Amino acid sequence: MTNSVSVPDRPLIVGVTGASGLIYAVRTLKYLLEADRAIELVASKSTYMVWQSEQNTRMPSEPSLQEEFWREQAGVPATGKLRCHPWQDVGANIASGSFRTQGMMIIPCSMSTIGKLAAGLSSDLLERAADVQLKEGRKLVLVPRETPFSLIHLRNLTALAEAGARIVPAIPAWYHNPQTIEDLVDFVVARALDQLGVDCVPLKRWKEE
Ligand SMILES: Cc1cc2nc3c(=O)[nH]c(=O)nc-3n(C[C@H](O)[C@H](O)[C@H](O)COP(=O)(O)O)c2cc1C
Repeated sequence: MTNSVSVPDRPLIVGVTGASGLIYAVRTLKYLLEADRAIELVASKSTYMVWQSEQNTRMPSEPSLQEEFWREQAGVPATGKLRCHPWQDVGANIASGSFRTQGMMIIPCSMSTIGKLAAGLSSDLLERAADVQLKEGRKLVLVPRETPFSLIHLRNLTALAEAGARIVPAIPAWYHNPQTIEDLVDFVVARALDQLGVDCVPLKRWKEE
C-alpha cells in the first residue's frame, strides 16, 4: 500500500502582491478553479490598496469572505478548492516545506517582493511560502510587473533565476490575434502556468490549429 500523492493532485499556491494588474491574478484563479484545482491563496498587505486604487473595490481580509470575493471576481462560484490565508499568518500550512505542493506562482509580482525574495527574507506569509518553494527545489514562477526595470530589479531577478525561479514577465504577445484585454492577459497567464506544467487556459498557440 502506498500513501504517496501524485504530483498533479497537489495544491498550487497563488501569491498576489501589490503590483499593478490584479486582473492577472483574477484570470489565473478563474482557469485553475474551472479546472477543479486546489488553490492556496495569499495576497500581500499591499494588495488591499491596489484593489482599492485599480478597481475601487475593498478586498476583505477575513479568509472565508476573501474566498467569496476572489470567486466572485473570477466568476467561478463552485468548482475547485480555494483557501485564502491572511498575509501575516506565517504559521499557515504553506509556510512549511512539509506541506507538499506542485509549486507557487506570484502574479502579479512587485519589485518589492522580488527584492525581498532575492535577499532571502520571509517577512510575511507570501515571502515565506515562496522561500519554501525555493529551498525545497519546487517550482516558483514569478510574474513581475514593472517598467522600466532598474539595475537593482534586474540583478534581483537574475539572483532569483539563478536560485531556480522561473521569471515570466507580464509581457503579452500579439501573434494569437487578441481581441480583448482578457486575451492579452490570458496569454501571460497561460505562459506562466506552462512553467508549472498546468495547461488549462484555452490559448491559441503558435502554429497550432
Ligand atoms: C495602484 C498601485 C500600483 C502599483 N503598481 C506597482 C507595480 O506595477 N509594480 C511594483 O513593483 N510596485 C507597484 N506598486 C507599489 C507596491 O504596491 C509597493 O512597493 C508595495 O510595498 C509592494 O508590497 P508587496 O510586494 O508586499 O505587495 C503599486 C502601488 C499601488 C498603490
